[in-house]
Amino acid sequence: MADTSHGPSSFWTQADALLRKNLTYQKRNAKTNCRLILFPFILCILLVITQSLLDHELNKASRKCGCKDVDINGNGQLEKVCGLQYSDAFQAATCSIPSPPQWPPLLQIPAPQYRAVRSEVIPFTDLPNDSCRSTGSCPVTILFTGNNQSLGENLAGNMFPSSFTVNSSNYMDSLAYNALGSDTEPKRDNFIDPAFIENSTLYYVQHQCASNSTLSISVQSVIEFQKEAACVQDLKLWRNSSSEINEQLFKGYRKGNSDEKINEILAAYDFLNSNGNNFNVSIWYNSTYKEGDIQGQFNYLRVPRFVNLVSNAYLQFFQGPGTKMLFEFVKEMPKAASKINVDLASLLGTLFFTWVILQLFPVVLTSLVYEKQQKLRIMMKMHGLGDGPYWMISYAYFLSISLMYMLVFVIFGSVIGLKFFTLNDYGIQIVFYFIYINLQISVAFLVAAFFSNVKTATVVGYIGVFGTGLLGGFLFANFVEDSSFPRGWIIVLELYPGFSLYRGLYEFSQYTFTGNAMGTHGMRWGNLSDSKNGMRQVLIIMFVEWLVLLFVAYYVDQVLSSGSGKSPLFFLQNFGKKRPSSFRKPSLQRQGSKVFVDMDKPDVIQEREKVEQLLLEPSTTHAIICDNLQKVYPGRDGNPEKLAVRGISLALPPGECFGMLGPNGAGKTSFISMMIGLTKPTSGTAYVQGLDIRTHMDWIYTSMGVCPQHDLLWETLTGREHLLFYGRLKNLKGSALIQAVEESLRSVNLFNGGVADKQAGKYSGGMKRRLSVAISLIGDPKVVYMDEPSTGLDPASRSNLWNVVKRAKQDRAIILTTHSMEEAEALCDRLGVFVDGSLQCIGNPKELKGRYGGSYVFTMTTSLDHEQEVVMMVQQLSPNAERTYHTSGTQKFEMPKNEVRIADVFHAVEIAKSRFPVFAWGLSDTTLEDVFIKVANGA
Ligand SMILES: *[C@@H]1O[C@H](CO)[C@@H](O)[C@H](O)[C@H]1NC(C)=O
Ligand SMILES: *[C@@H]1O[C@H](CO)[C@@H](O)[C@H](O)[C@H]1NC(C)=O
Ligand SMILES: *[C@@H]1O[C@H](CO)[C@@H](O)[C@H](O)[C@H]1NC(C)=O
Ligand SMILES: *[C@@H]1O[C@H](CO)[C@@H](O)[C@H](O)[C@H]1NC(C)=O
Ligand SMILES: *[C@@H]1O[C@H](CO)[C@@H](O)[C@H](O)[C@H]1NC(C)=O
Repeated sequence: MADTSHGPSSFWTQADALLRKNLTYQKRNAKTNCRLILFPFILCILLVITQSLLDHELNKASRKCGCKDVDINGNGQLEKVCGLQYSDAFQAATCSIPSPPQWPPLLQIPAPQYRAVRSEVIPFTDLPNDSCRSTGSCPVTILFTGNNQSLGENLAGNMFPSSFTVNSSNYMDSLAYNALGSDTEPKRDNFIDPAFIENSTLYYVQHQCASNSTLSISVQSVIEFQKEAACVQDLKLWRNSSSEINEQLFKGYRKGNSDEKINEILAAYDFLNSNGNNFNVSIWYNSTYKEGDIQGQFNYLRVPRFVNLVSNAYLQFFQGPGTKMLFEFVKEMPKAASKINVDLASLLGTLFFTWVILQLFPVVLTSLVYEKQQKLRIMMKMHGLGDGPYWMISYAYFLSISLMYMLVFVIFGSVIGLKFFTLNDYGIQIVFYFIYINLQISVAFLVAAFFSNVKTATVVGYIGVFGTGLLGGFLFANFVEDSSFPRGWIIVLELYPGFSLYRGLYEFSQYTFTGNAMGTHGMRWGNLSDSKNGMRQVLIIMFVEWLVLLFVAYYVDQVLSSGSGKSPLFFLQNFGKKRPSSFRKPSLQRQGSKVFVDMDKPDVIQEREKVEQLLLEPSTTHAIICDNLQKVYPGRDGNPEKLAVRGISLALPPGECFGMLGPNGAGKTSFISMMIGLTKPTSGTAYVQGLDIRTHMDWIYTSMGVCPQHDLLWETLTGREHLLFYGRLKNLKGSALIQAVEESLRSVNLFNGGVADKQAGKYSGGMKRRLSVAISLIGDPKVVYMDEPSTGLDPASRSNLWNVVKRAKQDRAIILTTHSMEEAEALCDRLGVFVDGSLQCIGNPKELKGRYGGSYVFTMTTSLDHEQEVVMMVQQLSPNAERTYHTSGTQKFEMPKNEVRIADVFHAVEIAKSRFPVFAWGLSDTTLEDVFIKVANGA
C-alpha cells in the first residue's frame, strides 16, 4: 500500500473515477444495451413493413387510374393509355382529369324491396299492400305537408312527368325532362357516376307506368353507355303535419340487417307558408346512402335533383306548363392525378414512439435503484465519493446513454424513410427530444428515491410506460382532439411528463400526416406559433419541469436517502461550509444526557475519563474518539423502545486495532452503523480525525475504509476494477494506483490464476470477503471498520488476511468486530466485550485473561459411578474450585491459580488413575473464549 500522504480527492478526480467505473460497467452490459437499442429498430422496421404492405395494397391496379393497351394510331402498335375512360368509379379518384365528363343528375331511389308499404309499424291505409314487393312494382312514396293543402297537392302533382319524353334531335339535354334515378351507392366524387357503370338498372319516376315499362336509354359521357331504365310510379301522400312525416320516416328507418320492417320514403316536402308570392319549402332527403362505410362521408350528390323537381313544379304551377327549369348535367371540377397516401407511421407512430422513448425510464430507474438496493451508493460514499460528482456523473452518464438511444432511433427512422422523422424540422425534433430526455432522467432520479427494491422499481416502471402510452393514446388524445375540452385542463394534464411527451409526438404526427397527404413538409419553426399547435407549450412545460424536478430530486435524495440523513432544511444550515479545523466542543452540553455506567467496571470508567480528558485538549492525535455514543430505536407496533447502544466512550490512537467482541444482537452493528454514517446517533457523538460524525460525515468519508459484513460489490466488475475504482476515489493516480492495486490484490491472495480479472459475481464467498477487505484498505484510509472480515475464509486465506490487517494497522486505527477469539487475539491490541449495548470491559487480551481468568480449567472424564470421587479429589486440591460444566461423566472445574500447584494436580490424577478408570483428563489456562463467556453471562 502506498504510504504517500495524499489529501482527499478533488471533485474531478471523483467524477473521473466514477465515470471510468460506469464505462467499464457499461461495457459489461453491452448485451442489455443491444436489446434496448434493438427495440426501436424492431418497431421502426415493423412500421415500415406495415406501411409498405399498405402502400402495396393502395397502389394495386384496382386502386390506380385504369389503363388499357390500345392501338391509338391505327397502325397495329399497342400503347398503354391510362385515363378516366378505362377506370371505374373508385379508380377515377387517382386519374388526371383535365376536363371532367358530365352526367345527368340522378335521384336516390330506394331499392324495390325497401320501398314503403303498409305494415304494423306504419299502419297508414294510403300505403300500398306489401304484395307489390314480390313483383318489384312498389311505388316510391313522397310525403308532403304545408299550410295550404290544395297548393301542396298541386305542387306535388306537378313534380314528376306523366310520360317519358325525349327530343331525338337533342337527346342528352332532353333527358332532363324526366326524373331519372338509381339505387346504387354514390361515390365520394362524381367523376364517374357508378349508376351508369355498375350492373344495375336506372329508374325513371312517373305518375303512371305502362305495363311494359322498361326502355333503353343511352347516355353520352366519358363513353356512350346503354342502360336499361325501369319505370317507377310515384305515390304522393298528404300528411297533416311535419311531425307526422318525421315519425313516419323514423319508423321506416332500416335497423340492423333485418329487411322486414323497412319503409323507405323517396323524399318528403313541407311547403310551409308558400303561396303565389313566396316559395318556402323544406325537404327531407336521405343522405346516409354513401360509398362504403369506412369513408364516413355523407353524400349530397343526389340531393340537388329533389330541389330542382319541386322548384320546377312551383314555376310550372304559377307560370304555366311552358315554363321549365331544366337541370341537365352535373360535372366535377378538373383535377390533377393523385396517389392515395396514408402515412401509417404518423398515425400509429405516436403511441409506438411514446413507448420507445418511455422505455428509457425503467432503465434509468432500475440502474439507480440497483445501486441503492445493493447499498453500493452508500459504499461509494463511505469511500469518499461526494454527492456532487455522483450526481454529475450519473446524470451525464444516463443523459449520454439516452441521447445515443434517441440518436440511433431518429437516424434509423430517417434512414428507412419514416416520414415522421424526415418531414419535420430536425431542429425542433432535437430540441424536443433533448428536453424530454432530461426531464425523464430527472423524474427517474426523483422516483428512485422512493424505491429500495429493483424488482418493484422495474415492475412499477414498466407499468408506468405501458399505462402512460395507453392512457395517452386512448384518453389524452381524445381530450386534445376535442376542441370543446378546456385547454387549461390539457395544460394541467401535460404537467405529467408522459402526456407532454405524447402531445409533442402527436403534434409531430399531425403535421407529418397533413404534410404527407398534401405533399408538403411537416412542422417547421414557424409552425410553433400556430394557434392549434401544442408544441410550444409542451416545450415550455417540459423545460421548466426539468429544472424544477432536478432540484427537487436532489433535495429529496439529500433528505431521504444519501445516508447522511440530512434534515429537510439542510441547505440553510450548511451553506458554504468549510472543512472545520478543530473539533473542540464544550463538554457542558453532555450534562443532560443519561449515562449508563456500572461502577464496577474500572476499565470502562477509565476509558470514559480518558475520553473526557481528550475532549478538553485543543487538538488530538487520536484517530477515533467516541463520546458517550447512544442509539435508541423508537418503539414500534407496541414494542418498547430499544436501547441498542448505551453510551459508549472510546478513544483509539492511530496504529491500534480495537476488537469488538460480543454475542449476536449486542449492538456492535448499530455501533458500526453510526460510525460509518449509516445511522445517526441518538445522543453523544464521535470524532474521527477530529471531525464530528454528526455534522462532517462527508469529510470523514475521505479518510475512511469500510469492510461491511455483507459484501457490497458490483456483480459484473472484476476485482481489479473494484480496486481501481476505489483507489481513484481515494486520490491514487497513475503508477501509484497501479502499484497499490497490485499490492492489494497480492496481499489478499487474489492475484494468481487470473482471479483478479474475473467478475466479482463469479467469486466464491471467501474471495468476495478478501476483496472487500482489500477495498477497505486501499488508498491509505486513516480509520478502517471491519465487520467480521474473516467469516467464510479457509484457514490459509485467513492467516493471509491477518497478515494484511497486521501490516495495515501500523499507521491507522482499525475497529474490527469478530466472533473468532483466535482472530481477536491475533490481531487486536485491545479488546472490548460488548454486551447489551454497552462495553463490559476493555483491555488487551493478556490483561483480560489475567483479570477474568486467574484460574485453571481442569477437565476429567470418568464413568458415571466415579463422578463423586472426582469432585472430592478436586475439592481436596482446591477448596474454592467451582464446577462449571457437567454431563455424563465429563466434568469441568475452575480452580483459582493461587490455590493450586500444577505438580499437585498431576500427582492427584496419578492416584485417581490407580483407583478408578479415567478416560481422559486435561488442565488448561483460561482462554479468551472463557473470558468472553464469563463476561457475557455476567452482564
Ligand atoms: C291555397 O292555394 C290555392 C292555390 O292552389 C289558392 O287558390 C288558395 O287561396 C289558397 N288558400 C289559402 C287559404 O291561402
Ligand atoms: C327538339 O330540339 C330541337 C333543337 O333544340 C328544337 O329545335 C325542337 O323544337 C325540339 N322539339 C320539340 C318537340 O321540343
Ligand atoms: C288529418 O286531418 C284530417 C282533417 O282535419 C283528418 O280527417 C285526418 O284524420 C287527419 N289525419 C291524421 C292521420 O291524423
Ligand atoms: C336512408 O338510407 C339508409 C341507407 O340505405 C337506410 O338504411 C335508411 O333506412 C334510410 N332512411 C330512411 C328514413 O328511409
Ligand atoms: C318560411 O317558413 C318558416 C317556417 O314557417 C318561417 O319561419 C319563415 O319566415 C318563412 N319564410 C318566408 C320568406 O316566408
